[in-house]
Amino acid sequence: MKRIVIVGATSGLGLETARLCIREGWRVGAAGRRIEALEALRNEAPGQVEIEPLDITRDDAPEHLGRLIERLGGMDIYFHSSGIGSRNTDLNPEIELATLRTNGEGFVRMVVAAFGYFRSLGGGHIAVISSIAGTKGLGSAPAYSATKRMQNTYIDALAQLARMDGYGIRFTDIRPGFVATPLLSEKGHYPMLMKTEKVARRIMQVLRKPRRRVVIDRRYALFVFFWKLIPQWLWERLKIRQKA
Ligand SMILES: NC(=O)c1ccc[n+]([C@@H]2O[C@H](COP(=O)([O-])OP(=O)(O)OC[C@H]3O[C@@H](n4cnc5c(N)ncnc54)[C@H](OP(=O)(O)O)[C@@H]3O)[C@@H](O)[C@H]2O)c1
Repeated sequence: MKRIVIVGATSGLGLETARLCIREGWRVGAAGRRIEALEALRNEAPGQVEIEPLDITRDDAPEHLGRLIERLGGMDIYFHSSGIGSRNTDLNPEIELATLRTNGEGFVRMVVAAFGYFRSLGGGHIAVISSIAGTKGLGSAPAYSATKRMQNTYIDALAQLARMDGYGIRFTDIRPGFVATPLLSEKGHYPMLMKTEKVARRIMQVLRKPRRRVVIDRRYALFVFFWKLIPQWLWERLKIRQKA
């Protein structure tokens, strides 16, 4: 029986993965800002789920994480599913900066806290959801794509650090394409849109059997392969605007 902490367990991929972990018989520590959503999840399996409201953009979030781990009786897997993202072709500074705070600062704050916990134990598994959006700078969502790239690089760096110093921590960088979650509530055309349940099932596989990096699904993996081959001079001339 594993003990998993899911930060961002109140909706979308985090919530769906939490449900699969419950079905697997794991103990789940669920976190996010929305207390009612956390309570609703706990009501689905009262003996198996511990909850802790926290906001990853705040300095006190690692303390809350510590409390949650304690109540869970320890943590084997840290799963980071928190994130925000919107199209922002108008470059509204509030959106850009909020995205940096959540996907950049908040992400680092929490992953560093999990790293510290596992380092003190001599091992563990950190899994994060980044995105395929980090593959190239997207004109339609500059802060989102830049922060997702940062997440990819940050995990690469921590994976090297953990090996260098022999901490025994494993890392999984999960990169989905478009998934029908509340994050995509804005009207728009999202090609190859995937169901949340399907993506959560794939996430569950890599939580059971860690892989270093995974693009979900296969179609998107192929897409990313070709996407990476596009030279920058051509990339900048492409009009990738989602239709409203
Ligand atoms: N949907 C997609 O197409 C897609 C594709 C690729 C990658 N992703 C990534 O997948 C991850 C999960 O997103 P989702 O699609 O499942 O969207 P979602 O349903 O909107 O879930 C986002 C989660 O992040 C949490 N969160 C946001 N801000 C937070 C904060 N300041 N502190 C703590 N938790 C916070 C939310 O909880 P509270 O609001 O309760 O705090 C919620 O549980 C994100 O990192 C997203 O970038 C999504």
